[in-house]
Amino acid sequence: MRVAFDQRFLDELTARSDIVDVVGSYVSLQPRGSEYWGCCPFHSERTPSFHVRPDQQMYYCFGCKKGGGVINFVMEIENLSYPDAIHFLAKRAGMQVPEETRDDGSSRLRSRLLALNRDAAHFYYDQLHSPKGEAVMAYMQQRKITQRNATNFGLGAASAEWDGLMTAMLQKGYSQAELITAGLAVKGKNGGAYDKFRNRLIFPIVDIRGDVLGFGGRIVDKTDPGAKYMNTPETVVYSKRRVLYGLNLARKSKRQGILLVEGNIDVVMLHQAGFDNACASMGTALTQEQLHLLSRYTKDIILCYDNDDAGKIATQKALTLLRDTEFNVRVLELPKRLVDGQFVKQDADDFIKFQGADAFENLLSGSESGMDFRMAQLRDQFDLTNDRGRIDYAAAAAELLADVPNAVEREVYTVRAAEAAGISPDAFRQEVQRFSSRKARKARREQEKRDLRPTMAAQPKERSMRYDNTRSARAEEDIIRLLVYDDAVFGDVSPLSEEDFSSPILGRLYAALWAQRQTLGKININSLAENFTRDEINFLASITQSGLFQGNHDKMLQDCLNQIREAARKRNVANGNEDVLLSAYKKYTKKD
Ligand code: UTP
Ligand code: MN
Repeated sequence: MRVAFDQRFLDELTARSDIVDVVGSYVSLQPRGSEYWGCCPFHSERTPSFHVRPDQQMYYCFGCKKGGGVINFVMEIENLSYPDAIHFLAKRAGMQVPEETRDDGSSRLRSRLLALNRDAAHFYYDQLHSPKGEAVMAYMQQRKITQRNATNFGLGAASAEWDGLMTAMLQKGYSQAELITAGLAVKGKNGGAYDKFRNRLIFPIVDIRGDVLGFGGRIVDKTDPGAKYMNTPETVVYSKRRVLYGLNLARKSKRQGILLVEGNIDVVMLHQAGFDNACASMGTALTQEQLHLLSRYTKDIILCYDNDDAGKIATQKALTLLRDTEFNVRVLELPKRLVDGQFVKQDADDFIKFQGADAFENLLSGSESGMDFRMAQLRDQFDLTNDRGRIDYAAAAAELLADVPNAVEREVYTVRAAEAAGISPDAFRQEVQRFSSRKARKARREQEKRDLRPTMAAQPKERSMRYDNTRSARAEEDIIRLLVYDDAVFGDVSPLSEEDFSSPILGRLYAALWAQRQTLGKININSLAENFTRDEINFLASITQSGLFQGNHDKMLQDCLNQIREAARKRNVANGNEDVLLSAYKKYTKKD
């Protein structure tokens, strides 16, 4: 268990960090009744479903179901750990964090791993320029990476030795366990360990603060049987969903927008050719977290993935993710290259190498909007030389266009698609209209369904939090709502224990809230941030935000208690029966 921050300090900190002020510095909030509403900063939307309640000091988004107190908000939006969020808020409020209580194991480990990564990056860098790095240096030169650019990216060399890095880092005072935790060493069979990266060109992965979070390593020897690239596994400091290779440099670029490519070498070579706004999601699909990072620096994204099938699929996926966001998206499609009468795929690095930077600049200025790309992809799927193909194409295109929120954009593409399908723009416009009303109806029906069944809607995504018994869970949620909004109906002794709850997460939340009520005399959702995960706090927020029924709360409490206790009794009987069966079975199989 971590050592907690001093409660008095926390109370004062949260009192001085009014949620409306803090949230209001990120989101433009409009007062409505006793609440404030705005567009959610955690997902993209045009009509507000995010609200802040000053009385509860809570925020909640009905769209993405994120919510919590002011500390959660800072953790979420600044991507900080709990202790770091406390420090962030303390600085904002001009308060000193009490020294002695800052004994948090996880943040110590974090800074230890960051220091180790930094030293490892230096080690690899030095090695690249030493005899042990010759093979890697030769490969780097073969790929036409200049010394200057290599230094810009802090590229390095892992030698072929099994323990080159490990020996050096042990000498610097790091432990073998730390090397393993950092993903730099791998456990061997006899309790030993060896270097993870061997005989590879090393790409340090640096975040926007300049911390080295992890590494990518590429083989330099064609006969190497290992994977072409190896990356740091998920660690305390490295999460592949949350980084973009090269963003630390790209964010400082004077060029407009951010150029997204697939690979590390693509980034390095694009920067070398003057396109210093390039960064890479390192071969994995673009994530919401990465978009969140990007949104701090740009509104324009240019997708430039490989021009093979995998790259096209990645482009489609990225466009889908980007569709409802504020980003302006363009797609730079690289042409295939003719080699010995065959067209071969190429990535940005190949293109720069064979066609040059000027040719790339031309492609960049002529890159299509995301919609152009999607429409072209769609057209390729149908045979427009016959009626059947044209009709099917028209239906698919109308469905796609029904989703375009911007009326001008929709009109432009409607005219083009009508032309491609060989039908009049008016007829086609009606088809688009038909699809958009059908979609609106469907969305309305779904919303009504959700409104009618709040418990089901609140079902947490996380498996470990799903309900076994929705009937009892509904009563359990009501108990939690009662505790938050009208705890006067409860006596001094808890009517329930954690085990009475059919849902373990609701049981834990109840126990924690009850303990707070006893020790603090009130509920403060901020103090829960430390012992519950973000998903769990979001979940608590979603429960409390669906509001409490007016009416007789004493009666409601009794009804809920009856239901929960009855379900608990049934559960115990079921478990008891199981035990009886189990002992009978044991007796039966006993050998003597
Ligand atoms: P690619 O296979 O397209 O490689 O993978 P590349 O970037 O063109 O590399 P070169 O030019 O052959 O050197 C794209 C990215 O996917 C990740 C790497 O980040 C790579 O840059 N990747 C690829 C892996 O993580 N593991 C692999 O085995 C392969
Ligand atoms: Mn490549």
